[in-house]
Amino acid sequence: MASNEEELKPYLITDPQEMSARIDELRRQGKKIGLVPTMGALHLGHLSLAIAAKNECDVTVVSDFVNPTQFAPGEDYDKYPRTLNADISLLSKIGTDFVFAPSPDAMYPRGFDATVHVGGVSKLLEGRFRPTHFDGVCLVVLKLFNITRADIAYFGQKDYQQVQVVKKMVEDLNVPIQIDMRPIIRERDGLAMSSRNQYLSDEERKESLVLNRALEKAEELVRGGERESSVICDAMRQIIETAKDATIDYIHIGDPKSLVEMERVSGDVVVLLAVRIGTTRLIDNRLIERK
Ligand code: PAF
Repeated sequence: MASNEEELKPYLITDPQEMSARIDELRRQGKKIGLVPTMGALHLGHLSLAIAAKNECDVTVVSDFVNPTQFAPGEDYDKYPRTLNADISLLSKIGTDFVFAPSPDAMYPRGFDATVHVGGVSKLLEGRFRPTHFDGVCLVVLKLFNITRADIAYFGQKDYQQVQVVKKMVEDLNVPIQIDMRPIIRERDGLAMSSRNQYLSDEERKESLVLNRALEKAEELVRGGERESSVICDAMRQIIETAKDATIDYIHIGDPKSLVEMERVSGDVVVLLAVRIGTTRLIDNRLIERK
């Protein structure tokens, strides 16, 4: 990290056209562009992506936009933390070049009509509980890809299904961008970092550790030779149910790319779960690769 003297504030852009114009100029100079799409409220998970972009690309753009189209009515759009100044200050420590923070009106002006829908992998799991969520994610992500014309976009594994949906969109629609998924960054006690963790009360924060414990158990069982998904899911359920405020939305063992459920574990698998602790919905996952 740069020392205080070396810190340079990223250039803040709110206008999509200005962002595109800047990128055009940089691309003419042959610069490689890295994009980190975020909704702000940055934590170390986001920063690890911005650092990866900084290391691999000539120019890093971090988008900071709480995207209304991926929230359903009644979800946490209004209360989602908005901390742009703090985000910029964090990004200045790692040399991010641009923060792109448009307003909802700038992204979705009056008369905006387009939709993006990826079937298949977007319909499972989160797609069942949040049926319009991935349409909103794909819409904004495709817009961000077009505005920044990035060479590489960096996403965290924490939102594993999101990454698979975005990859499928890119593949199906021939979007000229590389999608780079980076490992989950966890708190010291194992909770996956998320901007939504701040909704948890102290008691719920303790209870939230059951997610990672359940995933550790799943990995231990798979590595120990267990092949029946139902046995693994039961063991995970038992761990999660020790938390009195926990409600399981799903525990799922699936193919790492399609996420299609696997009744028997064979080859690489991904274990995904969504659990509500009180009113806070947390997701987490573990990719178990067989060397
Ligand atoms: O993962 C997120 O924070 C969001 O879904 C994303 C990719 C920035 C789109 O709004």
